[in-house]
Amino acid sequence: MDYQAVLQEVAAFARPLVGRGQVAQYIPALADVDAERFGIAVADVNGEVHGVGDWQEPFSVQSISKAFSLALVLAEGGERIWDRVGTEPSGNPFNSLVQLEYENGIPRNPFINAGALVVTDRLQSLTGDAGTTMLEFLRAESGNPDVAFDPVVAASEAEHGDRNAALAHFMASYGNLDNPVTTVLEHYFRQCAIRMSCRDLALAAAFLARHGVRNDGTRLLPAREAKQVNAVMLTCGTYDAAGSFAYRVGLPGKSGVGGGIVAVIPGRCTLCVWSPGLDTYGNSVAGVAALDHFTTVTGWSVF
Ligand code: DON
Repeated sequence: MDYQAVLQEVAAFARPLVGRGQVAQYIPALADVDAERFGIAVADVNGEVHGVGDWQEPFSVQSISKAFSLALVLAEGGERIWDRVGTEPSGNPFNSLVQLEYENGIPRNPFINAGALVVTDRLQSLTGDAGTTMLEFLRAESGNPDVAFDPVVAASEAEHGDRNAALAHFMASYGNLDNPVTTVLEHYFRQCAIRMSCRDLALAAAFLARHGVRNDGTRLLPAREAKQVNAVMLTCGTYDAAGSFAYRVGLPGKSGVGGGIVAVIPGRCTLCVWSPGLDTYGNSVAGVAALDHFTTVTGWSVF
């Protein structure tokens, strides 16, 4: 496969959609990002990486971090996490409160904000420093020691974080957080505020294409748990648009309101696309179109 040629074709296809949608406004530090950016990278299972456009430009990973925190909890032996968070799509927006009360403080899945707060709480209990654990993992897997938290974005999230604070306090009232709400929120916001490029993210997620094996050949997860993370990405990784993402792209994927999406082709490669304009569900408009076109031209969906 001539990855470079395919990525060029995909970028040309997505180009008319770049700038469509809305850059995330509810975290003010994200609202300044240039909507006209577009990058895409692919990392194969041997660690070879290709990209086009703004593929080496760091952006705010936001909810893409939720896939890594779930994997790190499972890697730390935290499979009991599934007693505290479900594996069903929510059919609701990523920051919705509505299901939590009638489902007794147990979030539907680990990728909506409520679920990710529970996962962060567990990672904090298992490691003593959830944010740094994730940062070190991402630096190691991407091979980029410059991967870092963006303190301005983290502070902006905290300042405008009433919704996440409400979710966390509500779950604490059901006994579904072990650490203080302030600690969980601090680590959650730091993880979301990590800045990485498409190149870095495609490499960092490659263990999901290698059935759990890290870039240095050591195993992060048993194949069964890598399968679980990929499956939950497919069914829940793009929120209340997960059905349409599966229909269009046909891959496990995890989006973030920074405009990035990571997608996995198990056994073959990982993709990361970035373009900041979002649809009403919080997924990159040009990003979804690019991944749709990638699986169309290559025939490499999981179906
Ligand atoms: O907590 C939030 O709302 C953001 N830090 C992350 C949300 C997000 O990226 C949802 N993704 N599409």
